[in-house]
Amino acid sequence: MILLLANIKQLLTFRGPSGPRAGRAQGEIGLVKNAAVLMKNGRVTAAGKEREVLRHPLAKKARVVEANGIVLPAFVDSHTHAVFAEPRLRDFSLRTQGVSYAGIRARGGGIISSVKAVRRQAPANMVSQLLERAERFLECGTATIEVKTGYGLDKKSELKMLEAVRAAASRTRLEMVPTLLAAHAVPPEFKGDSGKYLRYVLDEIVPAVVAGDLAQFADIFCERGYFTPEESRSYLNACLRRGLVPKIHAEQLSNYGGAWVGVKTGAVSADHLDYALPRDIRDLRRGGVVATLLPVSNFFLGLSRYPDARAFIAGCVPVALATDFNPGTAPCWNMQMVLSAACTHMKMTPEEALCAATINGAHALGAGDWTGTIEPGKQADLAVFDASDYRELCYYFGANLNKLTIKKGKTAYRKRDLIA
Ligand code: NIG
Ligand code: FE
Repeated sequence: MILLLANIKQLLTFRGPSGPRAGRAQGEIGLVKNAAVLMKNGRVTAAGKEREVLRHPLAKKARVVEANGIVLPAFVDSHTHAVFAEPRLRDFSLRTQGVSYAGIRARGGGIISSVKAVRRQAPANMVSQLLERAERFLECGTATIEVKTGYGLDKKSELKMLEAVRAAASRTRLEMVPTLLAAHAVPPEFKGDSGKYLRYVLDEIVPAVVAGDLAQFADIFCERGYFTPEESRSYLNACLRRGLVPKIHAEQLSNYGGAWVGVKTGAVSADHLDYALPRDIRDLRRGGVVATLLPVSNFFLGLSRYPDARAFIAGCVPVALATDFNPGTAPCWNMQMVLSAACTHMKMTPEEALCAATINGAHALGAGDWTGTIEPGKQADLAVFDASDYRELCYYFGANLNKLTIKKGKTAYRKRDLIA
């Protein structure tokens, strides 16, 4: 019950004012060298210089774990589509032949192919797939993820996805925050009639989701060929009236007005933002919306253009980073890969990127008051990495340096010794 994580070479606490970190504050990591963290009943009791933490009366009663590495708040991956039935390998092969995301959709791939697979999938299989994926997130140092629906697109299948999240969440230490993304695309039965489909979602799916308390957020793909800004605004407002907090896929493939809709509907985050303009950045700042950037999807799609993280930081918009884990644009659950892409392709500093992957990710889920930093009173969600300098987490790529993930004070993942 009482745990002392000792011998920490560098502890990144991200201690600071409440609220998401923007501008210069995005680069403040709260570094403590030669540190320790004391935890009791799932919460942090003390965190700081080891010699000071050891003086705490509870330290003598604690079980001691030697970190011998870097400790930071466990990653908060605030944007995933982690419930899906099959990888999209045909799409992948087509992409290697030069076919674009839009071109793949036109050839029967894309979101709708994932929908067909999810509709066929047995609920029990969906749960076991999600549990296997949960292990992979924990293994890479992530202890909280958001999970979107959006591959069901009818009442039965969207609820099946949310019920799978609920069932899996009760059997893993990974915390999963569910988001209804029924407005991901117009399913074939509605023959492109997006207005009619959104009415169906609001009349049939949303009430069932709310009655079952199955989701916390509502998201929509605001993009040409998917849902217009006007539709997105009235849909998200209707969801908000029913208690689902808005999030939005905005300005991913073109500048279309999604960021502004996010501001107008009080969205907690606007995500992707590849084509955001200076006015969008000003609006997001005024609206207090977190900009969630997903550079691994650009990497996987082989795009040369990345979201302009520097412009968001200069404009004092808090930036969060997430994987976007999904079968179409980001088959990646490792936040360390996201850190690499953010530093290399978006020129975020390691400090800014780590802040974006922890405390700002927590704020993108409205969870910044209890996770995302390491300080007394907060949930003990942290990860230990096999490194001597925190920048190694951004420097090595395609790697996993995590060796221990702790969620609510309990071991959620521990790397096995190579020699038994
Ligand atoms: O975040 N933009 C919409 N949704 C996903 C892609 C989903 C898919 O292709 O299956 C995204 O990139
Ligand atoms: Fe997404």
